[in-house]
Amino acid sequence: MKKTILTGLRPTGNLHLGHYFGAGQNYVRLQDDYDFFLEIADVQALTDNFDNPDKVRKNVFEITKDLLAIGLDPKKVNFFIQSQIPEIAELTVFYSNLVTVARLQRNPTVKTEISQKKELFGNSGESITYGFLGYPVSQAADITAFDGEVVPVGDDQLPLLEQCREIVRKFNSIYGDVLKEPQQVLSKTTRVKGLDGNEKMGKSLGNAIYLVDDEDTIRTKVMGAVTDPNKIKKDDPANPDVCMVYYYHKLVNNDENINTVCNECKAGTRGCVQCKKELIEAMKEFLKPIQERRKFYEENPNEVKKVLEDGTKAARERAINKMAEVKKAMKIDY
Ligand code: TRP
Repeated sequence: MKKTILTGLRPTGNLHLGHYFGAGQNYVRLQDDYDFFLEIADVQALTDNFDNPDKVRKNVFEITKDLLAIGLDPKKVNFFIQSQIPEIAELTVFYSNLVTVARLQRNPTVKTEISQKKELFGNSGESITYGFLGYPVSQAADITAFDGEVVPVGDDQLPLLEQCREIVRKFNSIYGDVLKEPQQVLSKTTRVKGLDGNEKMGKSLGNAIYLVDDEDTIRTKVMGAVTDPNKIKKDDPANPDVCMVYYYHKLVNNDENINTVCNECKAGTRGCVQCKKELIEAMKEFLKPIQERRKFYEENPNEVKKVLEDGTKAARERAINKMAEVKKAMKIDY
């Protein structure tokens, strides 16, 4: 029997290349070998977007189209919407007894996120909501409701998985061996740098290339990319290892072109403008099949709805079965 993968994404915006190399590519690779449940985590997105329901709703469909566009096959992957699985909310309540507030406040992922959201949660997190602080508990419910054994995530999510395992162990030690401890699979590339040289590509950093970006948008972003600051004139030799244009050639171009870029840059026979133009072309080529698949789903919104409906139905069946086991173990199966 195939093992179960459970992973999730918050629908707060379109996917960018950071998501693709950090997670998406990994999903595509894993989809043949696992029983795959992919959660569109709208309830989790609402924990810090509770005042913007339109944004979350719109992005449920946007992110689903992006995921289909990168080559996830709805015959292999169950796409489901978190809010449509009431068992997840129920489990969250049960698990909330098994974790202390202090432990959640110490969770490194939660800590980082609170400090990034000062306008929402205050300068030192004094206005943190109950819901946001508790989202790792809800994520533990996401995973265990489906007996998720394998969870492909980026390294920023590791503290959340550790938290989930702690809840599982605590639950099993009190109520019996009912829940499964999940293991993570990290992506090969866990973090993609921004074109501005920032360690991370992100929406809030304004340095992301989206899978849906058109040629003009790509051109503007690539033309502004950071290159070797010591290269002043077009034919100065330079160091490709400090250049973001070379970094992106390595992500989207083929080996032969990557070598040429590297050698010519070092020899001083390649100007940065030319190099950027070539990157724009390579990026367009790279995104072409993704954007073509996406176009099909944009033109056929009912297909997207159906993918979500079918996946949610399959997910619900699983969660209902698990819930029965949990309630029996907790002696609340009246
Ligand atoms: N917290 C994850 C993120 O923001 C999304 C997520 C929700 C998730 N539920 C999950 C990831 C379950 C793995 C497993 O990226």
